[in-house]
Amino acid sequence: MSVYAIIGGSGLTQLEGLTVTAALNVDTPYGAPSAPLLRGDYAGREVLFLARHGHPHRIPPHQVNYRANLWALKQVGAEAIIAVNAVGGINGAMGTGHLCVPDQIIDYTWGREHTFFAGDLEHVTHIDFTQPYDAGLRERLLVALAEQGCAYSAAGVYACMQGPRLETAAEIARLERDGADIVGMTGMPEAVLARELGLPYACLALVVNPAAGKAPGAISMTAIDRALGDGMDQVRAVLARVLDAA
Ligand code: HPA
Repeated sequence: MSVYAIIGGSGLTQLEGLTVTAALNVDTPYGAPSAPLLRGDYAGREVLFLARHGHPHRIPPHQVNYRANLWALKQVGAEAIIAVNAVGGINGAMGTGHLCVPDQIIDYTWGREHTFFAGDLEHVTHIDFTQPYDAGLRERLLVALAEQGCAYSAAGVYACMQGPRLETAAEIARLERDGADIVGMTGMPEAVLARELGLPYACLALVVNPAAGKAPGAISMTAIDRALGDGMDQVRAVLARVLDAA
């Protein structure tokens, strides 16, 4: 039975329903993680929880210390990671409120500390990243989504942009031509750092707005906040099913 860790993003800085048994202040060779790691009981299972942007929500996507977050989770015993990410919908089938378990990533970020394999190395290390997400963990999410009966896509290409600004309409048109279905700011380097540490990792993405240019007018932050509030109830229910079944 693996110890699951949940990394909560925007809209999920707290995991309602988690009975916290310990708040762990962990230090790592890469600095401090975004927040204390919470150990507790969720849906009858021991689980770890980390608020990616800190609690309160204060660290922008490009300043998250992804290396410290992943290292700290592994250090306290995480054996599998479910990342929750709010995203914009590019694919017309992925409207606000839709959930997606992406199977691919395109990384457009820059300037982020994106590997553990740097610095004073004995030898250069390359890792395979053909399939960036763990197949078994994705399958568990998909079973839970089907049971929950919510609208979801069983695959999709996650485009990771630098942020913190949202994209231009032309950028989204380009991402669409590249084959992206959803766009976010935090999927990378988180996914690859988990792979480098040998931690199975999958993403549960909640669409909180149509991506730039996909709906008339500007993107409303109020509408995003509303979508986050509404959608995270579904996310929590899906997570509870995953843990319950594990
Ligand atoms: N773009 C990038 N990241 C996001 C978006 C978006 O439209 N919505 C939520 N996170």
